[in-house]
Amino acid sequence: MPAELYFCSECGYESHKWLGRCSACGAWNSFVAQPPPARGGSAVVPRGAEPVPITEAAASLVERVLTGIEGTDRVLGGGLVPGSLVLLAGEPGVGKSTLLLQVAAALAGPETPAVYVSGEESAQQVALRARRLGVAAPDLLLLPETSAEAVLGHLEGLTPSLVVVDSVQTMVAEGVEAVAGSPTQVRQVAARFQQLAKTRGVPVILVGHVTKEGMIAGPKLLEHLVDVVLSFEGEPGHDVRLLRAGKNRFGTVAELALFAMTDNGLEQVRNPSAWLLEDRQVGAPGSVVAVAVEGTAPLLVEVQALVSSSALGTPRRVADGFDNARLALLLAVLERRTGARFNDSDVYVNIVGGLTLREPALDLAVAAALLSSAADRPLAGDVAVFGEIGLLGEVRAVSRTAERAREAAALGFARVATAARNGATPLALPVHPLERVDDLATLLESKRT
Ligand code: TYD
Ligand code: MG
Repeated sequence: MPAELYFCSECGYESHKWLGRCSACGAWNSFVAQPPPARGGSAVVPRGAEPVPITEAAASLVERVLTGIEGTDRVLGGGLVPGSLVLLAGEPGVGKSTLLLQVAAALAGPETPAVYVSGEESAQQVALRARRLGVAAPDLLLLPETSAEAVLGHLEGLTPSLVVVDSVQTMVAEGVEAVAGSPTQVRQVAARFQQLAKTRGVPVILVGHVTKEGMIAGPKLLEHLVDVVLSFEGEPGHDVRLLRAGKNRFGTVAELALFAMTDNGLEQVRNPSAWLLEDRQVGAPGSVVAVAVEGTAPLLVEVQALVSSSALGTPRRVADGFDNARLALLLAVLERRTGARFNDSDVYVNIVGGLTLREPALDLAVAAALLSSAADRPLAGDVAVFGEIGLLGEVRAVSRTAERAREAAALGFARVATAARNGATPLALPVHPLERVDDLATLLESKRT
């Protein structure tokens, strides 16, 4: 008999004794007892599996099912792997159901229907959405059901190409004494569908809701159980949606796809850089085009900064889509290494389009935007900027310089401003070399009158 375990229903932290406050996430009264695992319930591989030579085992991994949506396939590592369990995590309203309905419709075939299990919406609601998206087809089967066992029963006579469970938090596993959405239920439900995926060789996608505050019972608890964790991100008020993998047993986690939420559902953005720069105000002080690398592809984004005199004792520092601590550090470096003063100014930084980027190569663009706004002088309009800034104010080279320059060239930029020392590779564009942050002044144009 294993010792009883307790775990935090907020973050999944496990402890051998009950805690009033979680020592991992700080939540109060979040600890619940975890029943001992059901016998055989956590065994992934069916008993009786034989050892196989590694050279032969690899063959089964390459087989993939394409979803027909290029971005989704790419983020998955080249399509869905039969028998895999995928978790699609995202905030309510971001478009998870929309994306999966489109994926399910693409995979549905006469012999191999796609099954969309909905515990949140009625069959009518899902059908109406499918019709509006233009993806309603007889091979896309809707199953409004919240019992995992009932779903498994319905699937027995079918050979589905895909099973979508929307959402894992609405489902219950029979015989488990816990409410839907509780950590115990979520784990047990996921284990049932994992069994289905492994034994029937069907890809199963679970939808999991998360909130801004963090992972509610769901994604965090399931990370170790599933093969792939996809996250779908977007900001309220913006059309842009980002799909990326947080874990992928069958591919890299570097890939990323951009979608736009339209009246006709999600449309993949084929040229993200052009799309993100569409509304750019060329020649406005505080606006800089940065070349980031997200996933495997370079991405041009507009960085905006606003530096304005503050009426507050403690001026505001607000970064949207960029790390706040990194902004504070850049301001300190700029104060120290250039003549700029920010201590009585409010400072706002925004990555346009609602993306959140954490790449160090953005430093230089953020610094340039801050200096440009502070001086009220626009940056040269023909230049794209990338580079990391060190604590001493030095501009440091970043990876993938050649690809960044190529993307900037493709979007019509005439030069790139980056570290003076950036390797031997010839670039697609001439480099405006920068040794130190104060060299950014050479990119500022004269004040507009
Ligand atoms: P939904 O897929 O229901 O989100 P989730 O399953 O992640 O909670 O989509 C949420 C929003 O998307 C909804 O508020 C309306 C919007 N939407 C569109 O703009 N166009 C569409 O074609 C669809 C289906 C939804
Ligand atoms: Mg939904």
